[in-house]
Amino acid sequence: MTIQTSHDALDRRYGGLQPAIDLPLTPTIELMLRHRSVRSYQDRPLAPGALEALIAAGQSAATSSNMQAVSVIAVQDAERRGRLSRAASGQAFVAQAPVVLCFVIDQSRHARIGRAIGADLFALPMLDSFIAGISDCAIFAQTVALAAESMGLGTCFVGNLRNDPEFIAQELNLPPQAFVVFGLCVGYERPPETGIRPRLPQSVVLHHETYSDAGEAEDLARYDAVFSAHETAQGRPAATWTGRHRDRFASTVYLAGRDRLRRILAQLGFPLQ
Ligand SMILES: Cc1cc2nc3c(=O)[nH]c(=O)nc-3n(C[C@H](O)[C@H](O)[C@H](O)COP(=O)(O)O)c2cc1C
Repeated sequence: MTIQTSHDALDRRYGGLQPAIDLPLTPTIELMLRHRSVRSYQDRPLAPGALEALIAAGQSAATSSNMQAVSVIAVQDAERRGRLSRAASGQAFVAQAPVVLCFVIDQSRHARIGRAIGADLFALPMLDSFIAGISDCAIFAQTVALAAESMGLGTCFVGNLRNDPEFIAQELNLPPQAFVVFGLCVGYERPPETGIRPRLPQSVVLHHETYSDAGEAEDLARYDAVFSAHETAQGRPAATWTGRHRDRFASTVYLAGRDRLRRILAQLGFPLQ
């Protein structure tokens, strides 16, 4: 699939429900509009220096209070990728991608610094510090993903790396107060390319001045039709987006163990006070 113009990219992003944008789009925005999660990779390594370039891009993102509460573990060893894949519900692409970047909310570094400077960092275990660290991880990782796409690489996040945090901590030799929030697979896509997955219409997402859900039900019905047609075209079941809420939030099957997360986080050194 080749996207010719920004209007084409917008059309695909919204499946025909796109907003009117009377502006030329920048190359960066066009790249963003073309994002797709890639779940099939060639057996081809990244170029030398590519990993370091991606991390430099990620480290350039904003970070809460400049506390930089992120560590990244780059897993390239095939056997370890296989073990990560099995821990992540057996998703094959995790073993296939040449690099799996594991994004760690790393409060262990803060704790070591606290000990070194003789300060009682009593606010570190508080929920707000955790939210700040998780935000840092997400912003860092998305910046890496965008940088990777700008280099012709494909990516896919792996939230399922949270299924078994104790195993992951052992596998990656994590200290206490360090937790893998998600992985990011990076590599060259194996054709055929997947399609651009349509997003909610902006009428549902963008609110002006104050929140409003006026017209939401009608717009969601239109999105359901677009989403379902896209899924069918990709060879997946023709589920509606709203219908998927039942699997996602009316059951814990999807969570594959992540319903235990609060207790496990406390054991790993995140009491979330
Ligand atoms: C934090 C996070 C975790 C994710 N975890 C997984 C995962 O474990 N497996 C997977 O196949 N996709 C995963 N994804 C990818 C989403 O399913 C994907 O972004 C979404 O369906 C939209 O599709 P698109 O990225 O192709 O536009 C994850 C995405 C995010 C942001």
